[in-house]
Amino acid sequence: MVPSRRLYPHQWSWDAAFIAIGLAYVNPTRAWRDLRSLFEAQWPDGRVPHIVFDPGTAENDYFPGPGFWDVPAYSGRPARGSTGLVQPPLHAVAAWEVYRRAASHGAECARAAGDELAWLYPRLVAQQEYLTTRRDAGGDGLASIVHPWESGLDNSPSWDAAMSAVPADMELLTRFTRRDIENADAAHRPTDVDYARYLGLVLDYRSGGYADADLASRHAFVVECPSFNSILAAAEHALVHIAGVVGADPEIHRRRAARITKAISEHLFDASTQTFRARDVRTGRLSPARCVNGLVPLLLPGLPAAQAAAIMTEAASPRFGLPDRTGLPVPSYDRTAPDFDTLRYWRGPIWINVNWLLRRGMLVHGYRGEAEDLRTAMVRLVHRSGHFEYFHPVTGEGIGAPAFSWTAALSLDLLADRSVPAYARAA
Ligand code: DGY
Repeated sequence: MVPSRRLYPHQWSWDAAFIAIGLAYVNPTRAWRDLRSLFEAQWPDGRVPHIVFDPGTAENDYFPGPGFWDVPAYSGRPARGSTGLVQPPLHAVAAWEVYRRAASHGAECARAAGDELAWLYPRLVAQQEYLTTRRDAGGDGLASIVHPWESGLDNSPSWDAAMSAVPADMELLTRFTRRDIENADAAHRPTDVDYARYLGLVLDYRSGGYADADLASRHAFVVECPSFNSILAAAEHALVHIAGVVGADPEIHRRRAARITKAISEHLFDASTQTFRARDVRTGRLSPARCVNGLVPLLLPGLPAAQAAAIMTEAASPRFGLPDRTGLPVPSYDRTAPDFDTLRYWRGPIWINVNWLLRRGMLVHGYRGEAEDLRTAMVRLVHRSGHFEYFHPVTGEGIGAPAFSWTAALSLDLLADRSVPAYARAA
């Protein structure tokens, strides 16, 4: 399933995970097929590509398409079948969600879910191992992203400081044509300067054969994102449960979850502001921007209680404004920042997927009332405005792609599921 027919006409990695969570209610067979399609494109080194290209979609229908990435053939797959970047590894969480709902569709569905989980387990483990070894560019137990697209929060102010050191070769935009602004309003999308940097980073990574050795010294963008790493640890928590079903050792996943949680807590928390920030591995500095990715560590049951409370304080403050202040889910960026932008993608608008993660974190830490308010605010927003890609953080109006798969999929989950994640802290 594609995120959106016109704007994103291929399969995207973390979209596939969110979409599977919704399909679990209405079409589990399709949820498994989507996850399989993604993991069939897994690289021999374990990386799961951020886009799997649909061979039936023309090169010109999306930029940067298969020709730009120019990925070589691997594992019996033809060349140019995927990109060489990754995205947040939410798939173990998604697979567990699809599995645990399977029984409600009957015995045959439950049996098939066990088989699918067994097929996925070693692949999910290989994905985790790629991210925790080859991508530990900072050597501190966290995975680095090498491109803002890997965070899923493409133009978040979280990357501004690190991106300012990345050359913006505007000539690239005369050689290549952006397709996104033909399908969406340019004022809602990343700027041309952002795009020139995005393309330059891909070309650099590509010219090194998408290899990860010595990233910190030779690649211009190497950043540890609190949300990406929290999802990495949440995946280990999901793997504890999956290992239990497929007869593998859950202990190793428990240990890894604890290790990543500790690294997030120690390296990405800014004690002076009591907030989680992205860290530029090349300079060692935390980003000055307070963004929604700083709220996602709430997903982790092992987070020290004081840090969980600090996240809730930040979320409730006028910077983000939980629904009891605004009636809306939280925006992607600090509402009080001078460069808060109500329209431009991850620089202000509301996104359902990160709010879904935040709500889950609230449930993990026992903030049941806040979680329920956030759930209601998300359902109301989508009911009022439609299944848009993102939403205006003041008016709630829909922005971006009008029929966006993860908004629809997560809405199904928000309507149906009020249960607490299996790995929530004991009350
Ligand atoms: C896009 O095309 O804007 C995507 O976010 C890249 O992954």
